[in-house]
Order: sequence, then C-alpha cells, then structure tokens
Amino acid sequence: MQSGTETARRRGPRSEGISPRAYEALSEVWYFGQRARIWDRLVVSSGARPGQRVLELGCGTGYFARRIAPVVGPSGVVVGIDPSLPSLAYAAAHSPPHCTFYPAQAQNLPFADASFDVVASSLTFHHIAPDHRLVAIREALRVLRPGGRACIADVCPPRIRLLERVVSAAHGRAEMHDIFDRLRAMMAEAGFTTMATGRVSRLCYITAERPHDLTAAFADV
Ligand SMILES: C[S@@+](CC[C@H](N)C(=O)[O-])C[C@H]1O[C@@H](n2cnc3c(N)ncnc32)[C@H](O)[C@@H]1O
Repeated sequence: MQSGTETARRRGPRSEGISPRAYEALSEVWYFGQRARIWDRLVVSSGARPGQRVLELGCGTGYFARRIAPVVGPSGVVVGIDPSLPSLAYAAAHSPPHCTFYPAQAQNLPFADASFDVVASSLTFHHIAPDHRLVAIREALRVLRPGGRACIADVCPPRIRLLERVVSAAHGRAEMHDIFDRLRAMMAEAGFTTMATGRVSRLCYITAERPHDLTAAFADV
C-alpha cells in the first residue's frame, strides 16, 4: 500500500495479497461502518429494478452484487465477473441463489450483445491496465441492451490536485489522480450518454445510458 499518501487513503482497501474474508472485514473499517449506505447509493444510481439482469464487473467478494440482489429480486439475475478465483468462491458462498459468478476480465466479457439491463462496477477500473480500460467500457456498452444503464464508481479525483500529483508521481502511481476523469471521458468516447455523476464518501460514480441509436451518438464525430 502507498502508505502515508492521501492517494492511498482514497483508493479503498487493497484486494491483492489478502484473503477475501480479510478484504470484507477491512472494507467495513475503511468506510467507518458506512459501506452499506455508500453502496446502496450506487444501487439507486444504477436504476436497477425488480426482474432485471445486472452484470457486475470486478465483483471481487461480491459485495455490490449482494446489495443489488434484493432490488432485482429472485425474478432478476445478478452476474459477477472477476479474474480472482478465491474472491469468486467467497462471493458465491455468501450470495443468494440468483447471484452467479464467473471468472472473466472486463475487457473480454463472455456474454452476448444486449444481454443485460444494468452494468455496475466499483473500485475496479483502477485495477484494469490502462490500455484495457476503454476496451472494457466498450464491452460494457456491447452487453447492455439499448436504454440499459452503467453505474461505474471508482476513486475520486483528489481535492488538492497539484500536491497529490507530485506525491503520487513519486510513488509511481500518477495515473491514479485522474482515473475518474478519464473514465468519464472514455464512457463518452465509447458512446455512452452520461446521465449523472456524483460523489458518495470516497467514491465518485458515473451513471450513463446506452443510447437506443448508437449511430446517433457518433453523428457529430
Ligand atoms: C479493489 S477490488 C474491488 C472489488 C469490489 N468491486 C468492491 O468494490 O469491493 C478490485 C477487483 O478488480 C478485479 N480486477 C482486476 N483486474 C480486472 C479485470 N481486468 N477485469 C475485471 N476485474 C478485474 C480484482 O480481481 C479485484 O477483485
């Protein structure tokens, strides 16, 4: 961890090198017991409704999936993907039956076009290699039905940008500074229509829609 830097404080608990159970315990502490409230704001922003099909990218231990599950209900489906097998095993063991989990990467989704109503993701895009992020967003667009929504949350831009840029560059993580700004730009570039952006605790999120007519989204390009 990048100890001592504001950047490290903002990122959220590290998932690498710790057990899924430890990640869950650490996350509760990290968000001062407010984890459920924070993720429930994201669930509302995702617009998920009863009976819908939701895909979570980088589901890890499946926390976001478990917060969405009661909203879509047993007539809906929540699918989580992540490359980490131990995290997926934890997610499957702790989630209701209408949540399913698969090993996959966001930049190469093993799902049909237009097969989900909602794509959700939290704290995952800064883990995806920079070269793969736009590919992953295009994959999210592809698997969403027209009019479907994406809700992507990640680390907020720093409040004191210049200071943090200097400190974080010294730690070799300069790209962490503008991860959220870049995500927002990439979603527009991919063809999403931004509906809302917001901040909840240490997370910033963007909610965007897959247009019904993608050609119209690129009409001015
Ligand atoms: C900090 S954890 C976040 C987990 C969970 N979304 C949450 O909010 O607690 C980042 C997750 O991204 C996953 N990840 C890393 N690279 C990925 C990729 N290319 N596609 C999908 N998930 C990825 C990691 O395995 C890890 O579970």
